[in-house]
Amino acid sequence: MSKAKYTITAALPYANGPLHLGHVAGVYLPADIFVRFLRMNNHDVAFICGSDEHGAAITLRAKKEGITPQEIVDKYNHIIGKAFQDFDISFDIFHRTSAEIHHKTSQDFFLKLYENGHFTEETSEQYFDEEYQQFLADRYITGECPKCQNPNAYGDQCEKCGSDLSPTELKNPTSTLSGKTPVLRTTSHWYLPMNRHEEWLREWIKEGKLDGVQQHDPKPWRNQVIGQCMSWIDGGLHSRAMTRDLDWGVKVPLPNADGKVLYVWLDAPIGYISATKQWALDNNKNWEDYWTGDRKLVHFIGKDNIVFHAVIFPILLKNHGGLILPDNVPAYEFLNLEGDKFSTSRNWAVWLHEYIAAYPDKMDELKYVLTAIAPETKDAEFTWKEYQTRVNSELADILGNFVNRALVLTQKYYEGKVPHQGELTAYDKEVLAEMQAIPERISKLVYLYKLRDAQAEAMNLARLGNKYLAELEPWKLIKTDEKRVETIMNIALQITANLSIVLQPFLPATAEKLSQFLNFKANDWALAGNSNLLEAGSMTNPPSIIFQKIEDSLVETEVSKLTATQVMETSFEPQKATVEFDDFTKLDIRLGTILEAEKVEKADKLLKLVVDTGIDKRTIVSGIATHYQPADIIGKTVQVLLNLAPRKIRGIESQGMILMAEDAEGNLSFMSPEKDFPAGGGIA
Ligand code: MF3
Ligand code: ZN
Repeated sequence: MSKAKYTITAALPYANGPLHLGHVAGVYLPADIFVRFLRMNNHDVAFICGSDEHGAAITLRAKKEGITPQEIVDKYNHIIGKAFQDFDISFDIFHRTSAEIHHKTSQDFFLKLYENGHFTEETSEQYFDEEYQQFLADRYITGECPKCQNPNAYGDQCEKCGSDLSPTELKNPTSTLSGKTPVLRTTSHWYLPMNRHEEWLREWIKEGKLDGVQQHDPKPWRNQVIGQCMSWIDGGLHSRAMTRDLDWGVKVPLPNADGKVLYVWLDAPIGYISATKQWALDNNKNWEDYWTGDRKLVHFIGKDNIVFHAVIFPILLKNHGGLILPDNVPAYEFLNLEGDKFSTSRNWAVWLHEYIAAYPDKMDELKYVLTAIAPETKDAEFTWKEYQTRVNSELADILGNFVNRALVLTQKYYEGKVPHQGELTAYDKEVLAEMQAIPERISKLVYLYKLRDAQAEAMNLARLGNKYLAELEPWKLIKTDEKRVETIMNIALQITANLSIVLQPFLPATAEKLSQFLNFKANDWALAGNSNLLEAGSMTNPPSIIFQKIEDSLVETEVSKLTATQVMETSFEPQKATVEFDDFTKLDIRLGTILEAEKVEKADKLLKLVVDTGIDKRTIVSGIATHYQPADIIGKTVQVLLNLAPRKIRGIESQGMILMAEDAEGNLSFMSPEKDFPAGGGIA
């Protein structure tokens, strides 16, 4: 039987921030373990990732940091890509969705579906920010979740209850741009009528059958994945817009689609395909080989990505035709940190690149702990204390101790030469039989995506070795039975050689160290279990300590750093990007006295003011009508930004802006001088 071929993808991280341990534990590390295992088993594998560089997640971040979206994605594509490299995640390619080849690939994909009638064009009312003159897609709008009452749900999703939302479902919608209540305006978009697909999706997800043909084994699909998809489908699938009114993204490749881009969740998964294309180009391969025929497509993702990978992308792939659908979508639950959720906004996180910078020689320690606690079936928690305990009492005391003993004693008794394996006792045979059984058990678990248990099995081999030496005590026996000690040490070294194989997917750097100690390297999983990997007489090297114990001080430093750098939850925006003094002085802010005030017709919030600025009298439209009555403000001296480019608001040209103080609830107050100063005075 020929080996199954695989195309493995790991969710494309948004290029809007660095990676934290939650991302690593729940997507990239398990994907990497799986791939390393497949490669050792001679499966043909492509391991694909890249950064997701479109959508509101990017433009909002750009606004926050005061730089352009392109600068944002360049910055984070670099930070993320570098962290992956340093952490030795073995992607075949780490690509990016801003690449030309990706724009072309996703436009072609869109056109193909469009031409085959898989989209509908619908006109609807969508929220629009009048101040910013922009439609508010997805994350540009927040409001109260209709399902769980979370007041900060996004227009596309509630992160608290996981509901999939559309902006018009939100109560008290607010624009993230202006903080104002948006208005409804008509716009037209291309929709994916998902309701057409309920039937086959059900059969495919639950039974693994597509058009009656068995496509995948439904069993290794995680219950949560099947459950989430089914509850979505049972709730009735709706049409979902596949385009957006935005200026950042892949342009809709149709006439009359100016200012429209593909929905980021349409273009991003196609990023897996475009990344494969780029990789194929760079390596003289055909990308089609990785997306067609007899090949397993596997998407490693976090649970918030389930519907996109197990429902929407499969619909798109099937509509496109000729491409494979996922064989499995191993989705991970969330990882918490020291009793709380990981949070980028509160800076409650351990950032991968910071860990790497602080502990460049402790990659495997982190890998080990993250796999041991991986949130495979339920949310899990990372604490520095547990990190310490696991490194010290598992990696150092069991694995490290065993390997060190085996190699040090070999140096001491045999000057590093592997001794002969003599006659085996019943106990030796039992231990060797156990050693032989372990790789098969690991293998079964890996194919079932149970990597946490698989790693524990690999550690059982170290446990077995540790126990073997502890029970037989060759350091005592050497005085009375040298012959017997040769056999014991031979077996201990064979176990070490086996460890250098079975640890490779999980702890590649450690496995490499063992290989160097033993002068033995095998990348072939089929060799694992063999009790004669090392020939008698071959040379080993003196070992060094593999795992240093983690001191209490490290735990204290990390925990207090977390608390110290935590950003308090506040309803105020964080500080904006720094400006130079010269930029500040460009603003012409002066005192002005309000001479006239009247309501603007059909605009609840606006007052039309005439202001004496000391140098002229001018009209300014100000959004203060819900805070001040016209009659009450005549004669007030207030701060005015004079040289703001004039703007037409409701047909009235506004020649400046009244500066207001605003509290957390959005109440407004003039900032009048405390002394009786006349109009025209500046700001110093
Ligand atoms: N950027 C998304 C996230 O971080 C994941 C995109 S996965 C892809 O949640 F399929 F769209 F690429
Ligand atoms: Zn909710």
